Amino acid sequence: MLSEFQDTLLQSVKAYQSTELVKNKYENVLEHLDSGILLFDSEGELSFINVQMAKLLEIPRQSLIGCNLLQMLRHTHLTRFKKRKILRIYRETIFHRKKYHELIDEYGRHWLITVTYGDQMDGDYLLSVKDVSDYKRIEQTAYQNDKLAMLGKISAAIAHEIRNPLTAIRGFIQLLRPHLVQLGRDEYARIILTEIDRANDIIYEFLNSSKPSAPQKVVVSVSSLLKEVVLLTESEGLMKGCEINLRLPDEVMKISVDVKQIKQVLLNIIKNAMDAIEEVEGDHAGIIDIGAHLDGKFVNISIQDNGNGMDKALLAKLFDPFFTTKEKGTGLGLSVSYRIIKNHRGNISVDSMKGSGTVFLITLPLA
Ligand SMILES: Nc1ncnc2c1ncn2[C@@H]1O[C@H](COP(=O)(O)OP(=O)(O)O)[C@@H](O)[C@H]1O
Ligand SMILES: [Mg+2]
Repeated sequence: MLSEFQDTLLQSVKAYQSTELVKNKYENVLEHLDSGILLFDSEGELSFINVQMAKLLEIPRQSLIGCNLLQMLRHTHLTRFKKRKILRIYRETIFHRKKYHELIDEYGRHWLITVTYGDQMDGDYLLSVKDVSDYKRIEQTAYQNDKLAMLGKISAAIAHEIRNPLTAIRGFIQLLRPHLVQLGRDEYARIILTEIDRANDIIYEFLNSSKPSAPQKVVVSVSSLLKEVVLLTESEGLMKGCEINLRLPDEVMKISVDVKQIKQVLLNIIKNAMDAIEEVEGDHAGIIDIGAHLDGKFVNISIQDNGNGMDKALLAKLFDPFFTTKEKGTGLGLSVSYRIIKNHRGNISVDSMKGSGTVFLITLPLA
């Protein structure tokens, strides 16, 4: 009888131990998951928080266990930014009953927050936070490429449609020319013809740059390319009160590029820098610093201005086709530049601060 009792006792101890083991194992897995996990019990008190979540909140875990939401929000270590975000999550998921919420943190990372509660959770509230920055980046690039492909198609169609009537007009003007000469108005014919040719050139240029065609590459030195571009922009800079400085290292930096296209990109960015400097009110000494340096198998070209700068909202739309803040802007300069650099297997990135200036960084692979 006694041994039977001992056996049962032993068995339940073993069972308990094994469930404890399993529990420990699961807890261990949860602890080290790459998503942040928070679990509130039915009283609203925090009963579990994993390593990743504490890292995200930048607070020691032990000081949070047992806190309710209000106490968490009063925690002295929690930054104002995070408090605001937590309140927002609470409002969206608990108050508005949304299952998901997305946010961008102070470091620019994207997070997806999922909240689970109700019957399936036995009254507990489970909040998990996952870093989705990589997905967002892929999604945005796909969206951007899609828009650029669309822009290419639309512009090619428009350019084609405009070219046809221009050819007809050109033909008829040539037929009219002898009559205009008789009237002593040959000058008119000449102007019309040169203007039509100019319009054709513009369309040709535009078609060339928006077409997703492979660039016509030749090997050139970055230094001579930059020197040439600076030479082209210096006089305009002088007129607008912008000083253009070019700083080049001694190293030889050769790239294999479509010179016309890369020049167009650099001219677009420098022109934008001059415009941004003009936007600054009052007597402002404009400075555009252009530089280049080697970085492994790449060369980084930087173009920095002390113009009016951009805020986050503007930066997000910068490369969108037709996005412009200028009265006479086309909003095509940067979207075309982006496409050209991507076609060269390079990259453009921008850093800017409203009121103090902007720096564009072009990365291109070395030849
Ligand atoms: N260096 C810069 N400083 C401030 N804003 C800039 C700069 N470069 C570009 N931008 C902003 O990006 C917009 C888009 O530029 P872009 O594609 O070249 O078109 P556009 O010059 O015709 O407006 C500009 O209208 C301007 O608001
Ligand atoms: Mg521009």
